[in-house]
This record gives sequence, C-alpha cells and structure tokens, in this order.
Amino acid sequence: MAILVTGGAGYIGSHLCVELLNAGYELIVVDNFSNSHPEALKRVSKLTEKSFVTYSISLLDEQKLKQIFAKHPIEAVIHLAGLKAVEESVKEPLMYYQHNLTSTFVLCNVMKQYGVKNMVFSSSATVYGKSKQVPITEKTPLGAINPYGKTKEIIEQVLGDLYGSDASWSIAILRYFNPVGAHESGLIGEDPRGIPSNLMPYLSQVAIGELSHLNVYGNDYPTVDGTGVRDYIHVVDLAIGHIKAMEKVRNQTGIHTYNLGTGKGYSVLELVAAFQLASKKNIPFRTTNRRSGDTAICFADVTKAEKELNWSALRGIDEICKDTWNWQKLNPNGYTTQSVQKIILS
Ligand code: WQD
Repeated sequence: MAILVTGGAGYIGSHLCVELLNAGYELIVVDNFSNSHPEALKRVSKLTEKSFVTYSISLLDEQKLKQIFAKHPIEAVIHLAGLKAVEESVKEPLMYYQHNLTSTFVLCNVMKQYGVKNMVFSSSATVYGKSKQVPITEKTPLGAINPYGKTKEIIEQVLGDLYGSDASWSIAILRYFNPVGAHESGLIGEDPRGIPSNLMPYLSQVAIGELSHLNVYGNDYPTVDGTGVRDYIHVVDLAIGHIKAMEKVRNQTGIHTYNLGTGKGYSVLELVAAFQLASKKNIPFRTTNRRSGDTAICFADVTKAEKELNWSALRGIDEICKDTWNWQKLNPNGYTTQSVQKIILS
C-alpha cells in the first residue's frame, strides 16, 4: 500500500518524502512543480537510496488524478500542495481560492471514488489570525485575516463536514507554525522564488551576501525586545509529525486537529543573534515600520500533539540555524546551483 504526497517536491514535501522512505513506506509524489524543483526529488532519492513514483500533474486535472488512484493501491494521502504566499494571496485572492480550494475538492472527490479515506492535511497557524492569548491551543478561536489563511480555514471546515457526512473518513489537520531549517545533509532545503518574504530565508541570503541587510519589521511590539515573536519549528521535526499523524489516521477514523510547533517563541532579534552565531557572519539590519497583518506574538501549545501523536519537536534554534546555513552555503542559488552537481556526483 502506498502513501500519496501532493506537493512532495516542495520545501515541507521533500523533507517529508525523506522521512517516509526512511520509514519504509512506498511513496507516490504528485507535484505540478509550479513552486518547486524536480532536483529536490532527485536529492530525496540520493539521500534515501530509494526510488519512488512521481507524477508531474496539476491536482485540478481530475482525469489524470483518477488514473493514479486506479493504478496504485493508495492507503493514505498527505495533502501539502497549494499556493502559500500571504502577500501574494492579498494581491491575487481569486487565484488562491480557485487553486487551493478547487484542487482540494478534486482530490477529495477522487479519494472518495476510490475508497481512500485517510488524509493528513497541511494547514497553518495563519488560521488563528491576529494576536490571541498565547500559547495558542487548537481551541483558540480561528480568524484568518488574509486570503491564504482563509483558504486553509475553509478547507478545514470542508473536511469537518466531509467527516460529518461519512464517519469512515480519518483526517488529521496539521496547523504548522513557522517551518524553518533544512536536512542536515544540506542536500534539500527551502528554495524560495525571488526575494524571500519569510524571515529565515531572508536572513540566510543576507548572511551569504545575496541581500545587503535585513529589514526588521517593527521594534515596538509588546515583546522581549520589541520585535515579533514566532514559533520556529525545524522542517524535519515537522516532517516526522506528519508521519505520526498519518500512522494515527491509518489506524482509526475521526477528524483531529494538531498544532505543530515547538511551544517556544523567539523574537526577530533573537533569531538574528542565533543565525550570526551559527554562520559566523554579521547580519546588518535596519528597523522599519511594522508589516501590515503581522501579529506581535504567536507560538503554539503543543500538548495535544505530544499526547495524541506521541510527537514533539526535538531540534532547537541553534540546530535550525546551523542546518539553514549549511543548506544556504552548499546551494547559494537553491536547486539550480552548478555546485550542486559536484555534491551529487561526489
Ligand atoms: C516572522 C517574523 C515578521 C521578514 C508566515 C505566514 C504563515 C506561514 C509562515 C505558511 C515576523 C519578521 C519577517 C523580514 C522581519 N506560512 N520579519 N523581516 O509572518 O510569522 O508567517 O510564514 O503557512 O502563513 O504568515 O513568518 O517569516 O514572514 O515573519 O522582521 O524580512 O519576522 O515581522 O515578526 P510569519 P515570517
């Protein structure tokens, strides 16, 4: 029986594929490569010394998706594929609603048709919206404030109604806090298109000299040093959390939601200091105005995942910065760097 991963070539997806293969699962990847690179999957194979099937299709292509389900004995689907840039979603809401919602509806319909009712869904802490009482629990009221977050919130509701209509479904909804870091090998990592909007990849590109300095978005928040506080979770810890959730959905029905974070918050300046230590590089920064839509403090209460999934994040901020810097050094331009070929051939 195989596990189908949508968006398997992406940042979270590629790290998840490594953990699934290392855990002995048969893997099928579906990815349209609109925001990922086939090279990432070649590296997954190199890292695990295992092969797997990849289909380069859009989830909107129902016929092609049906052919995959008809051909392979799929036991569960881990659904990561989707557009995920907050600022872009504000500029292009229709594209976000159309893509993220419709692709999920097509996927669920095909799963239903082929009797595949085990799903792990990639959601986001963005569904919680503006500052709430921290730490944030799964019971914290939702209130996404951007189209990207709203697509995640709507899909969570749809999955809840799907389970309500047919209790033979088994669904785990995973709300990611801030995924960061890279596989310790430096072979796979975050490869943002264009100038990164997220802090960690931006920091990393300043350290390597690709960007001149970091703009710190506000230092007048009610936090330890006035800068925004977030829950940064190592992408490998996040990937392992998916395996634990998938093992739960394979063994029982129901719908369950989990925060996947570390339960600790770090400020922007604390992250800058940790990254300078890990990279031994100076990170010039300037303080600018707050970024609209940002919240002051956001970090998770992770007791539910610890208890029900027997999972917790093991990698701390120093390892996160070390692994991020290792990936950045080895891949100055992400997956298209020539130097990568030397690594692969070595
Ligand atoms: C972190 C902190 C910024 C960049 C976003 C999405 C969320 C999820 C994770 C998908 C904040 C500050 C940032 C910079 C800065 N993605 N910052 N200068 O906004 O917490 O979450 O990514 O699921 O949906 O909203 O992450 O990395 O953008 O910001 O000062 O150049 O760093 O103000 O305090 P965020 P981020």
